[in-house]
Amino acid sequence: MKKLTPTLVWCLWSSNCHTGFNVVLPPFQGKRPLNNKVRKTQKKERSLCPAVLSHFDQQYSEELGDLWTFARAVLLDPGSWQYGIMLNRFSALPDITQILQSQGFLALLPQTHISQLLCNGSSTVSYSKNKPGKDNLLSCHCTSKGPPEVSDFLPDITCHALSQNSQSKPSLTLSNTSLQCYIHSSPLRFPSQAHRPGQLKQYYLLNAASLLPVLALQVRDGDKILDLCSAPGGKAIAIMQSATPELLCCNEPDPHRRDWLSKTLDSFLPSSLNSRVVVSAQDGQSFGQREAGFYDKVLVDAPCSNDRSWLYSSHSQQVEQRLIDRALLPELQAQLLRSALYAVRPGGVVVYSTCTLSSFENYAVVETVLKDFPEAEPEDLWEEIAISLEKYFKFSSHPGYSQLYPDPSLLTENNVSTYHHRLGILVVPHPGKTWGPMFLSRIRRRE
Ligand SMILES: C[S@@+](CC[C@H](N)C(=O)[O-])C[C@H]1O[C@@H](n2cnc3c(N)ncnc32)[C@H](O)[C@@H]1O
Repeated sequence: MKKLTPTLVWCLWSSNCHTGFNVVLPPFQGKRPLNNKVRKTQKKERSLCPAVLSHFDQQYSEELGDLWTFARAVLLDPGSWQYGIMLNRFSALPDITQILQSQGFLALLPQTHISQLLCNGSSTVSYSKNKPGKDNLLSCHCTSKGPPEVSDFLPDITCHALSQNSQSKPSLTLSNTSLQCYIHSSPLRFPSQAHRPGQLKQYYLLNAASLLPVLALQVRDGDKILDLCSAPGGKAIAIMQSATPELLCCNEPDPHRRDWLSKTLDSFLPSSLNSRVVVSAQDGQSFGQREAGFYDKVLVDAPCSNDRSWLYSSHSQQVEQRLIDRALLPELQAQLLRSALYAVRPGGVVVYSTCTLSSFENYAVVETVLKDFPEAEPEDLWEEIAISLEKYFKFSSHPGYSQLYPDPSLLTENNVSTYHHRLGILVVPHPGKTWGPMFLSRIRRRE
């Protein structure tokens, strides 16, 4: 692999799993080798769309108040956007973590020491250091007899641990994952890696808020998981970084996006996981009825009006169409969420997420669907995620949607804010914490 050095160009084609569009950041202050890739990226610059901005101004200033002023400033300044680097635990990581540390990157999540995983019963194997081999898998010494299991190939995750701020007290949930993402307080950019057949990528560049729905899913070894709207696969990869599910079904009906998804899976997962990760091509709206009660956990990372991307849509016809489509999205989203609630087993959880600030696609969708599912119970993510990660993300849990009135059956201690917390939490871009937009809600199907 090409050796990365701190002076290497920090150019980026952001592979933000939601946006799928190129953003050109302002000139890097340091030494930047002029290569073809940088020039190519610059050609794809998209300009701000005033019609979308005015639409957002109208809706979001009403829904978010002052928070919109800050979010607006961030969204209009791509140069301030931060990028997360999710490490691939199935790939050898020669000196990336050292480079990240030397550049001031820090681990977003607590680094789980392998002994903790063993204590938690998440794994039953002992580990050795990196040894070259197919797919760059790290070697292992299995305690079990017979052919090695996929869980035997977990990497030595202590090798890239960073010391944590002793002040931060992450929740047990957040510390119980092998998912690793590095972030920086400044908008430093890291080079992307091209897809190379037969070789695993070492990291995935993304908006770090995209990991929150996966954290809310609380992935554990042996889970059966459905990723209902899966392409291009960023969250599927994050799920596989978090633990070793028995099954991960990645569903994507769009053929082009499904190809993209397959490439992502090929680029990040070793072939030894092939039997556990399947790709399906169904309409997610009716998926759940066909496989009712089969899954432990379902992620609905719904198609939405992707605020970052829409703001930079350059074609006026496309903009008009998108604004028309926007009104239709909540019905599709609600149908996908209903389908997910059918697919999950009693006692299992569904996480619903979008990357828009729009309350119509977020809180309102969750509230509408809950009315149809008395056996579904929304869970409070405020303590578990928002409080744990407030150092890095700006959260809001107020729907700002005047038509939302608390359903008394959802109120605990007659508290309206508790009600809002239970419907979901929203990551709002903020200066210095530019992650998001990202909405997430977790709903448990009662036993
Ligand atoms: C926000 S993107 C998902 C991003 C993905 N989870 C990731 O992290 O990379 C939403 C996806 O839903 C897909 N989609 C659209 N309509 C769908 C439907 N009826 N059923 C399932 N997926 C659908 C879109 O093609 C798109 O790929």
